[in-house]
Order: sequence, then C-alpha cells, then structure tokens
Amino acid sequence: MHRKPSSTVGIDIGTTKVVTLIAQERGGTLELCGVGHVPSQGLKKGMVVDIEKASHALRQSISRAEEMAGVRVEGAWASVGGSHIRVKPYKTALSLGGRAVVREDISQVVGVAQEILLDEGREVLHVLPGEFRIDGHGGILNPIGMIGMQLELDATVVTAQMGPLRNIRRLLENVGVEPLGLVLQPLASAEVVLTQEEKDIGVVLVDIGGGTSDVMVYADGVPRYVGVVGLGGEHITRDIAAAFKIGLQEAERLKREYGCTSERFLKEAENQEEEVELVLAYDKDRRPVRIEKLCLVVEARVHEILELVQREMGKGGLDQGQYSELVLCGGSSVLRGLKEAASEVFGLPSRVGIPAYRLKGPFELVAKPGFATGVGLLAYARLNEDQTPEAKAPLGWIARVKQLLKEVRKLWGRTD
Ligand SMILES: Nc1ncnc2c1ncn2[C@@H]1O[C@H](COP(=O)(O)OP(=O)(O)OP(=O)(O)O)[C@@H](O)[C@H]1O
Ligand SMILES: [Mg+2]
Repeated sequence: MHRKPSSTVGIDIGTTKVVTLIAQERGGTLELCGVGHVPSQGLKKGMVVDIEKASHALRQSISRAEEMAGVRVEGAWASVGGSHIRVKPYKTALSLGGRAVVREDISQVVGVAQEILLDEGREVLHVLPGEFRIDGHGGILNPIGMIGMQLELDATVVTAQMGPLRNIRRLLENVGVEPLGLVLQPLASAEVVLTQEEKDIGVVLVDIGGGTSDVMVYADGVPRYVGVVGLGGEHITRDIAAAFKIGLQEAERLKREYGCTSERFLKEAENQEEEVELVLAYDKDRRPVRIEKLCLVVEARVHEILELVQREMGKGGLDQGQYSELVLCGGSSVLRGLKEAASEVFGLPSRVGIPAYRLKGPFELVAKPGFATGVGLLAYARLNEDQTPEAKAPLGWIARVKQLLKEVRKLWGRTD
C-alpha cells in the first residue's frame, strides 16, 4: 500500500459502530474509496470505557477501509460524543470609535474566546460563531466595512471534559493514526444532513444513535445550541431484552424487524389488521412475545428519549418561533413511528435526514441516516483541511481563534 497525500479520512467512533471513510481527490472531485464499518467495542454512552477493546475495533475499521481504498491511513478526523459535552454562550465586544470594521477587529473580537473561564478539566472543542452586532443592530454575518461605535459578537462555545478527549486521541495514536481534529458528532452530521435554507429558517437536528442522542439547533443560519443526552437505541434494545427475558441479540432483531412506537405503524406497514396478537418470539420460559407488548416497551423508551432531548434543547433558552422543522438522523431514526412520535413531542414537522454530499464512488454504502456523522466528518475535514494539526485539535487559543475565523469565513462565503 502506498500513501496518497490527498486522502481525507473521517472516523466516526460511535457506541454501536466504528466507521472509517477514506475519500480522495480524483480528477478534481472527491471520491469515496474506502469504507470500514465494524461493530464498536469498549464504548459506553459515546465515551471510551475500555481503551484496549476500543482500539481493536478501531484497528479493524481502519484496516477494512484501507484495504478497500488501497491506501494507508496516517491521519484522520474523528468524532467526539458523550454527555460530558457542554455549551456556553459567549459574548464579546470591541470599541470601534466610529470607524469601519477591518479584518483584524474580527480576530480581536473572537480572540477573547481564550478568556473564557473553563471549569477544571475541560477543553474548548469548538467556538461556533453566531451573529455580529454593530451598535446593537444584530443579524450581521459579515461586519467588515461597516461603520459604528461598537462591534459585538455572540458565539456558542462547546466544551468537553479533557479525559474523554484524551482517550479518543490516545485511541487513534494506539493504532498509529495522527488525530488531525476532533469534531462534535452532531456538528459533523449537520454539515451533510441540513440544507443552508433549513439553517436559515431555523431547524432542530436530532441524531439518535446507539448510546447517545444529540441535539443541535440552528436559527438565522448559525448554530445556537448543542446538547447530548446519554440515551439511544441500545437502551431500547435492553428494555426489550429485560421485558421479555430474551438475549440482547434477539431483542435487537425484534426491534429492527417489528419494533415501532405504536401498533398503528406496524399494522399500516404490514397491512395486517388482525396481526396485533402476532407472536414474534418466545422467551426462555417459552412465553410468547406479542407485538402490542413490544410496541409498548419501545414506545415508552422512545418517548423518554425524545422528552429528554427536548428538555436538553430547552437549556438553550431558544424560543419556539426560532425553528420550524425537526430533522432526525442516526441509526435509530429509522425505527418505525419514531419520526411521527418526534413530531408529536416537539410539535414540529419532521423528516429523516440522509447524508447528502458531493462525493463520487459507492455513495450508496453511506447514504443512510446512521452514516451522517461519518460523511459529515469528511465534509468538515474538507472545510478545515489546510490547518495545522495544532489548530485543529481543541488546544490553545490561537487554534480556537483560527477555527472561529474559519467558520466565520464560511459564513462570509455565503453572503459575499
Ligand atoms: N432498522 C432499525 N430499526 C431500529 N433501530 C435501528 C435500526 N437500525 C439500526 N438501529 C439502531 O441504531 C442504533 C445505532 O445507531 P448509530 O449507528 O447511529 O449509533 P452510533 O453512532 O454507533 O452511536 P452513538 O452516536 O450513540 O455513539 C442501534 O441502537 C441500532 O439498534
Ligand atoms: Mg453516532
């Protein structure tokens, strides 16, 4: 195998699966050329709990992608999840004294991000730019050239506990891969699942995975809130296993084949009016597992997850009028009736998001809601690739300012 310098690699280290995607620049377009998808090990609720097991799964995932692509992975962008993630609103101001805003003012105004007082043991993972205001007039995405007395910026700072971040970096180093950048899972997913129009109008993205459910809210084109809830599809499976005293594998099968949030969906899907009593399997004591009972178990947990996500989102202090749609992704978003249940709980129209990204090659392998984070990592990496490794990792303030400037520039690109 030989190394091709133009490889872009994203590794989504999830609770259920580890996905390595390798893309390469070919003839001016990016082509997906390696996919390594293996069951995850050593992770709980999005966090590494057994580094040895996790390294094993990671190594397998990378090897599969390398074999398919015929290249060696040397550096990669990896995802970060877990309920240790926190967000803080961040406001800063700069006096202009009646002159026009220049580029350096932006560096200065965002540079103050370094002064954020972090709780002990936390790192800044992302600084997400919100809007600029000049003399109190908001909604400005690109203030350069505008005249006023004071320039203000509203941003959202995403922080994470140092321990889990170090574990992810160590995991990558264990398998000989340089961590080029760590990206919050829903931020990566949002890159490929949401349209700019949705971000402008206001949208709530909910990624329901195996061990966590993430929420990310956009309004007026910018990220307003991110949150993580430590519950996902694996909890639904465990509930089924406990309720019917069956093994996890069988519970997972029942969930995927028959699981739904209400009998109605199953009846509609199967067009079987009479089948509510259908026996799906038998527990260890040969007692039958019936559909309506399965639905009740699934429904209860799905509602709990959705309500917790909604409560988490409430911490963002956003008002309901700021968003008008719900987009779901993650492996659990395909569960029958989940979309409808989410619409009910959030009081919003919803859709299930399939990753959309201009990528040649066997895209069908990743065109599923569960691959949103993996594909999103490639998109995120492409937007940030020219930075040095120091600038990509959540390290010093220069890195954070660079990152913010980069993200601000993306917004300029949109309005210029
Ligand atoms: N057809 C299906 N019906 C219901 N649930 C499904 C289906 N397919 C996958 N799932 C569930 O999706 C979950 C895995 O989702 P995903 O692949 O997004 O997780 P992950 O990214 O590894 O985890 P996380 O992001 O929480 O760390 C599992 O709990 C699995 O049971
Ligand atoms: Mg995930």
